[in-house]
Amino acid sequence: MVITLGIVGAGSFSKQFVPLFQAHPLIRDVSVTDLLPERSEWFKSRFGIRSYASFEDMLNSDVNAIAIFTQRHLHGPLAIQALQAGKHVYSAVPMADKIEEIQGIVQLAAHSGLIYMLGETAYYYPAALFCREEQRKGSFGDFVYAEAQYYHDMEHGFYEAFQHSGGEQWKRAAGVPPMHYPTHSIGALVSATGAYVQKVSCFGYKDDRHPDEVFGHGKNDWDNPFSNETAILHMSNGGICRANEYRRVGIKKSTSYIGTFYGTKGSYEWAYADHYFVRSEGSAMKVSNVSKLLNSAELESHRNDPDFTDQVANGKYDYVSMSPIMNAGRLPQQFEKLEAGHRGVHKFLVDDFAKAVHTGKLPPNHAWAAARYNIPGIVAHQSAMRDGEALAVPDLGDAPAEWALLDPEAAV
Ligand SMILES: NC(=O)c1ccc[n+]([C@@H]2O[C@H](COP(=O)([O-])OP(=O)(O)OC[C@H]3O[C@@H](n4cnc5c(N)ncnc54)[C@H](O)[C@@H]3O)[C@@H](O)[C@H]2O)c1
Repeated sequence: MVITLGIVGAGSFSKQFVPLFQAHPLIRDVSVTDLLPERSEWFKSRFGIRSYASFEDMLNSDVNAIAIFTQRHLHGPLAIQALQAGKHVYSAVPMADKIEEIQGIVQLAAHSGLIYMLGETAYYYPAALFCREEQRKGSFGDFVYAEAQYYHDMEHGFYEAFQHSGGEQWKRAAGVPPMHYPTHSIGALVSATGAYVQKVSCFGYKDDRHPDEVFGHGKNDWDNPFSNETAILHMSNGGICRANEYRRVGIKKSTSYIGTFYGTKGSYEWAYADHYFVRSEGSAMKVSNVSKLLNSAELESHRNDPDFTDQVANGKYDYVSMSPIMNAGRLPQQFEKLEAGHRGVHKFLVDDFAKAVHTGKLPPNHAWAAARYNIPGIVAHQSAMRDGEALAVPDLGDAPAEWALLDPEAAV
């Protein structure tokens, strides 16, 4: 199947994806729509693509796949509308911020056979790839405990990001509960453990003293008082995870990663530029430094610089450089000269979605997986609002067994 792709939301993030969508050999045509016509116009002249006057016009056209890049709380209803119109859907994270919307997306995907893929960047990050693969191979033994986090201080680009489309009322959206954007932390944990969350207890960092007045009673659309939320997750395999979603924290780099991962036979630990893999061999423990596999060659080439750790802490080498653990060789050669953000991950996102639509096979981070990344976050925020009360997390189950899974490494 040849893909004709319509992008909804001509904002800061989608413009990084247009050259990749245009270059992908399975995508024939790319178009755009935005509520603000001047943004669509800018995309038209910058990338030479067509535009539609509205999302509804795009849905009524022969576009067969929709890529959603609107502000985060708008994704759920747009994905539902697109699936109802018979379109395949790629959605930037999060999936939705209401459990009913997530249920709706999963049901529509099940009944229609259409592809839904969540564009979760952290899934393709080196630590997630490493832990997922070693866990799958059994190197860690039985899963015990892991930690993941998405730290992104408001001052590191978030004010500008929310102001870009939020107008005078931008704080109403900027105060979104951190756990409503849980996929970078919880998604990484769920995908690496291969388990799902059954129960959650969460505490919030009350932030009504800060002069920006983004968080606090009456300050935002969710009446959310918390800038930081920490969730303890009880997993279906009996293990425990800790997920942090922080928007007020003294760390420069906005980043999402698995920090530690422990099993009964081994573990993974990370600090800045150093990654360690520990396994028991008989009665002894063997420690391997796996930094060269997980860091990009560019980062490693600066290891002896006097300010190396500061540079790493500031995310200097992260943006476009891939690590050896990321299989760049499986990407279309048309991508070779193009830059891609989040350590090159955007290339994998576009490639997996295009291959899934083309083959009809389920991509990584399909609707059922995505539900398992998002629903625990929504329930976690409810728990935080109830002073950490442990709450059961609804699970929407596995993807249908008869629906073949895409092997992203295989040629289509
Ligand atoms: N690591 C990641 O995965 C990552 C990183 C950055 C952004 N994102 C996600 O990408 C999304 C977009 O972020 P952004 O910074 O580009 O936002 P943005 O505010 O710059 O752009 C959003 C655009 O969507 C348009 N829009 C909203 N509703 C619309 C509708 N019904 N029809 C047509 N256009 C509509 C707005 O007018 C705006 O131009 C967000 O959801 C964000 O969470 C993910």
